[in-house]
Amino acid sequence: MNIPEIVSQLTQEEKASLCSGGDFWHTKAIERLGIPAMMMCDGPHGLRKQNLVSDNMGINDSIPAVCFPAGCATASSFDRALVRQMGEALGNECQAEDVGVILGPAVNIKRSPLCGRNFEYYSEDPYVASQMASSFIQGVQSQNVGTSIKHFYANNQEHRRMSSSSELDERTAREIYLSAFETAIREAKPWTVMCSYNRINGVYAAENRWALTDVLRGEWGFDGFVVSDWGAVNDRVPDLEAGMDLEMPASGGFRDEEIITAVRVGRMPEAVLDQAVTRILTIVDRYLCGRNPKAVFDREKDHALAREIAGQCMVLLKNEDQVLPLKRTQKAAFIGAFAEKPRYQGGGSSHINSFKVESALEMAKGCCVTYAKGFAAESELVDEALLAEAVEAAAEADVAVVFAGLPDSFESEGFDRKHMELPLCQNVLISAVAKANPNTVVVLHNGAPVEMPWISEVKGILETYLCGQAVGGAVIDVLYGEVNPSGHLAETFPRALRETPSYISFQGEGDRVEYREGVFVGYRYYATKKIPVLFPFGHGLSYTTFAFSNLRTNQVVYHRGDRVEVSVDVTNTGDRYGKEVVQLYIMPQIETDAILRPVLELRGFEKIGLKSGETKTVHFTLDRRAFSSYNIQRQKWMAERGDYIIACGDSSENLPMQQTVHIEGDLPIPKCITMDTTFGDVLRIPGAANLVTPFAAVFGATNESADENAMGESTAEMMEAMMQYMPIRGLISFGGGTVTTRQCEELIQKLNVLAEAAEQKYES
Ligand code: BGC
Repeated sequence: MNIPEIVSQLTQEEKASLCSGGDFWHTKAIERLGIPAMMMCDGPHGLRKQNLVSDNMGINDSIPAVCFPAGCATASSFDRALVRQMGEALGNECQAEDVGVILGPAVNIKRSPLCGRNFEYYSEDPYVASQMASSFIQGVQSQNVGTSIKHFYANNQEHRRMSSSSELDERTAREIYLSAFETAIREAKPWTVMCSYNRINGVYAAENRWALTDVLRGEWGFDGFVVSDWGAVNDRVPDLEAGMDLEMPASGGFRDEEIITAVRVGRMPEAVLDQAVTRILTIVDRYLCGRNPKAVFDREKDHALAREIAGQCMVLLKNEDQVLPLKRTQKAAFIGAFAEKPRYQGGGSSHINSFKVESALEMAKGCCVTYAKGFAAESELVDEALLAEAVEAAAEADVAVVFAGLPDSFESEGFDRKHMELPLCQNVLISAVAKANPNTVVVLHNGAPVEMPWISEVKGILETYLCGQAVGGAVIDVLYGEVNPSGHLAETFPRALRETPSYISFQGEGDRVEYREGVFVGYRYYATKKIPVLFPFGHGLSYTTFAFSNLRTNQVVYHRGDRVEVSVDVTNTGDRYGKEVVQLYIMPQIETDAILRPVLELRGFEKIGLKSGETKTVHFTLDRRAFSSYNIQRQKWMAERGDYIIACGDSSENLPMQQTVHIEGDLPIPKCITMDTTFGDVLRIPGAANLVTPFAAVFGATNESADENAMGESTAEMMEAMMQYMPIRGLISFGGGTVTTRQCEELIQKLNVLAEAAEQKYES
């Protein structure tokens, strides 16, 4: 398509009409100019293509498709290549079904374990979320099919999701909530971005010019179109002006008129409309040029891939006395309704019409397995008969495997969980089974962490999350050791809801949700506050063991522009092949009060496979941003000058390898010196001491008086300590008339010149 040419031939009406859907899932076609309609479909972990009745809540049917593991599970794989492979398969499915854009990945941060949609999201950590999203996008788009990274942004709860306002400061936004999108958008270049329903600091996401234009396009270089979440448009003209190009679904055309009127009366320049149309047509053209009519949706092949991926996602949380893997000859009692009918996906717009689903029970053929239902999947109440039957089965077996998890009614798009508990009947069952059989293993099917009152009663816990339609086969693979588990948690499993960082402020007051925990989300909070958890972020066991050694960096002191190269050796010290997730965290050791930072933050991970006895070296490269936090006052990323520990290990709580490096970074120099700036801050400016010393006498801090004072302390030291919080105007108050306002102003002027020079020197 010659897009500028086409845009020049379109009438105003046609242009306005192109800015909203032709129906629930398609962009508009304009036949006279050869513009086709392009279909968009959910996403993110399977194809939800609706041919007949459409909806955005997964209520009506869609074509039979393959349900891959959901985001909660794929993130636990920590495996970029695997997620990319899943993206490739989905891209191919889209080609076969003539779908131009798949609506995913979903990268919103898990601010609280309660968010009903956490099962779709990747992580509580923006680095993991963005890395997974990049791989997914690269995979899908390698098939010439677009993605829609969603929901942009600060959409972290389902409660009042279409009206609530997420209130957060820019640093929290930049470091946590925007950061989950940033790398994926910069590196993997999704064709589209979906803006969220909610407001951000009072402004609807669809209307948020700062986010949609300044940051997304201006800073990150996004060049596709922004689509509204289905129904996220509030006021069409300001939305368009903010950078929200395509309204979905079709709005019956009445909003087109709002656009036309705005252009006609001169309220909105036509260029704004042309820009949105150009962006939309650019992607439609990309879709058209990339069509692959030969693509075939091979459901069995993709099912096999879904099984392989599922096996790499599951997290072995506990394995006392090596109760796992099981032997095929061992008599195992499979207990719990999910053994027969697994819960493998969540409710809402991501709901897939699976062409087949495999349960653990049917996939356990050839193993010595008995089955007892134990509980009714959708009930909370204890069924005494089912319980008794389960206890009996457990008592007669060598090992009892309880298939537990959350029912559909507990977690879904559209509402949040109210608590973190499993249904009562399941907690009672697990304890009863564990009493009857000392070798009890719990296999969990849930989209988010649950409390585990029985944790010390069972020997093994395998977290399968919502692992897709092939979960049954994959569970058997892992339970019986065909696949060595290698998933690690991409979120913390807290002990109790009341200990979570956003416990008090999660859903907010009415439509106002303050993100009061700031950047202290997930492990950033638990680690900083030293709160014990059930299982830490990054945790995951294997049937083999690994040892870390020989952490080294290329230098010890780093200047601007230097990259920190880190290597660490990892050895498989066990007796079988396994995969390890090698994690790298930075731990700032800086003692200024300029910025409150979490004690540790993940900055790198690699998943590697090792044969028994094998050693591999893992490399990481850290740029300056890895050491930085976002300075609101200066509106930029800054790495504070000082020491940082580089720590490597296999979870946020197990970091055996540590080395300190020194970053010759920024001093937290105050941006603008005023009468209120304290001497402590002033003295951070190189050279400021010379200007300030002549005034020190005002506070009695001279060398001559540095004897002993009434309290027996060294006066000079005390004065220095006290002066650090003294504002410059203190010279007037305490100078007994020796320092004038004019002198203070002159000092301030000189200090500002010095600060400016220091900044420029650093920038150059
Ligand atoms: C969801 C989106 C989804 C869209 C279309 C919305 O309700 O928030 O994630 O892509 O519906 O189904």
